[in-house]
Formats: sequence, structure tokens, C-alpha cells
Amino acid sequence: MLDWSELSATQKAMAAIHPVFSEQPARKTDATGLGMIERGGGRVSVDEKAMINSRADVNQLLPLKYRWAWEKYLAGCNNHWMPTEVSMQADIALWKSRDGLSEDERRSIKRNLGFFAASESLVANNIVLAIYRHLTNPECRQYLLRQAFEEAVHTHTFQYIVESLGLDEGELFNMYREVPSITDKAAWALKYTQNLDDPDFRTGTPEADRAFLRDLVAFYVIFEGMWFYTGFAQILSLGRRNKMVGIAEQYQYILRDESIHLNFGIDVINQIKIENPHLWSRTFQDEIRQMIVEAAELEAAYGRDTMPRGFLGLNAALCEQYMHFIANRRCAQLGLVPVFKDAENPFPWMSEVMDLKKEKNFFETRVIEYQNGGALNWE
Ligand SMILES: [Fe+2]
Ligand SMILES: [Fe+2]
Repeated sequence: MLDWSELSATQKAMAAIHPVFSEQPARKTDATGLGMIERGGGRVSVDEKAMINSRADVNQLLPLKYRWAWEKYLAGCNNHWMPTEVSMQADIALWKSRDGLSEDERRSIKRNLGFFAASESLVANNIVLAIYRHLTNPECRQYLLRQAFEEAVHTHTFQYIVESLGLDEGELFNMYREVPSITDKAAWALKYTQNLDDPDFRTGTPEADRAFLRDLVAFYVIFEGMWFYTGFAQILSLGRRNKMVGIAEQYQYILRDESIHLNFGIDVINQIKIENPHLWSRTFQDEIRQMIVEAAELEAAYGRDTMPRGFLGLNAALCEQYMHFIANRRCAQLGLVPVFKDAENPFPWMSEVMDLKKEKNFFETRVIEYQNGGALNWE
């Protein structure tokens, strides 16, 4: 085993810029996978692998410990799509027509697009700059790499929509800074990633490990698992009425990806709980439930702002009710006590829209065959 006295000048120089190198040999503490190689070190056994604070080499995918993570990686690959495969002709004609959409519908569509346009980048940045560093398992990192690419495809979708409809790109991509109901949501979530993005942040203490769990909840469970779902319901509700069918089809594909992102996040959190039961105290559970309640309130405010009068089949009250239903479902997935009493699903059609196999002719648009649409069964 190396000790400090054996480190070369290069190693000492690296230690000066990265404290991890100065503490113990790479095998024992390096969570990055970029530490110095421990020559002659033992091979990784499955038992050594762990979600956080692992001492096993993070560069060895095999042997797999978490098959669920690998299966989600394969499902993501099988669901590959590109936004440019979807025709925007009908959407362009409707958007440019004088009376095809009400002013309320236009306001809701634009704000919905504006919310998603920046949110996809926020989620991607959180994965790459915060989560990836601290999740010390190669099969989970393999999925994160796939997810990061999917978030890039989703951002591409909003570029393609803006370009197709001739929308004001500055207006759309600045909504997360300029429309208070969208800014409030983004600012709320960013609090949780800023901690982890601190270069001095390390997991390994209960306080730091809980900070990591809070970030996972804020982005996977709340951002992708709650806020995105009301956004999907808004656009897919229009699609059911044959409006903006190209965007609705793209949202179906995004929803299929996001349902796997969400379920990956839930599995990660639950696995960390299993491996570190001391973190999941009653007080911490109540704190997580409170985060979910706050997020639902922010979404209700966003609903009132984006749909002040509502339109056929959709209004702020129904969206708030849907958020309560989703919030309770997320609590159940995390093993938490539900947070809302009035939690009937006002949009039962959403679960059908999520099944692309069944809904092939739903929007009567061109349907692209993918290898595996069954991934939505996880939702
Ligand atoms: Fe996304
Ligand atoms: Fe996502």
C-alpha cells in the first residue's frame, strides 16, 4: 500500500490541487475514477460496490451489482429517437393561423415550452456537474451518461420547435429568468444542486450524504417526476384535441424517456436508503415530504399563471389536483406517508397516452417504430 512518503513529485502536485490524493491511495478513496492507478491492487468484487462512498474502483463496470441500472441503460438505448423525425407541418399551419388557437392556449403553450427549454439544461447540468461525481457506482454512471445524452436530445427538441414555429428564441430560453412562476421553480431546485457543485463538497458524513439525497429528490422526484408531468399533461391534452400534434408526439417521446429517468432516480434513492438506513430518519422523511409539498405549491402557482382562465379540458384547479395525485404517488415510491388527502387522478387518460404501443394512431401522425416501447411500464 502506498503511503505519503512514497508519492512521486507528480502525485504530490496532484494532491495539492485535489485533496483526495493526499489522504489515502486511490483505491481506498478515489470516487472520481481519475485517481492514480493502484498497481497490483485486488480485483473488484460485487460486495465492494456501493451507491455512495464506495471504495471499489469506479472504472470497472463488471461484475454488475445493480442490474436494474444496467437494464435502464439498455431500455434508454432501445428508445432512441430524434426530434427532427417528427413532422411539424400541422403545428406550423395551426400556429400561423389566425383563429386556430385561443390567446390563452398560445400563452400556455409558450410558457410550457419556456419552462421545459431551460429545465432540460438544468437537469443535464445537475447530472454532469453534481450527481455524477458522487454516485460511486459504474453501472449507475453508465446510465447517467445515457441520460445526459437524452437530456441533450430534449434540449434539441425545443430548439427544433422554436425554429419550426418561428418563436422568439430569446423570449423562450429566458423565461426561466423572466417569468416569476417559472423562476420560482428553477430557483427552488437550484438550491439543492449548488451544495454539491461546491468543489469542496464530499459525501461521507450523514450531513453530506443527506445533502446528496436532497439533490436526488429535488431533481429526479420533483423536477422530472412532478413538474414535468403537469407540463406533459398540458401539451398532451391539446394533442388529444388535435392541436399541436407534432409537439404532442415529441412530448410523448420525452415522457417515455423521463419515466425511466424518474424510475432510475427512485431506485437510486431507495438503494442508498437500503445501504445507509441511518440517513432515512423520521425527521429526514418529514423534511423530504415537506419538499414535495412545497414543490406542489410552486406548481399550483405556475398553473394559475399559465392558465388564468383555463381552456377546454384543462385548468389550473385540475392541474393542481393532478399534482397532488402525482405527489402522493412519488411518496409511495419512496416509502413515505402521503402528503395530500384529495388525490384522485383528474387525467386518467395520461396513463394511456404513456403507452406508445397502444396509442400508435392516437395523434394520427407518422409513427416511428422503436425497438422497445415497453419501458413505460415502469411508470
Ligand atoms: Fe429531459
Ligand atoms: Fe430527464
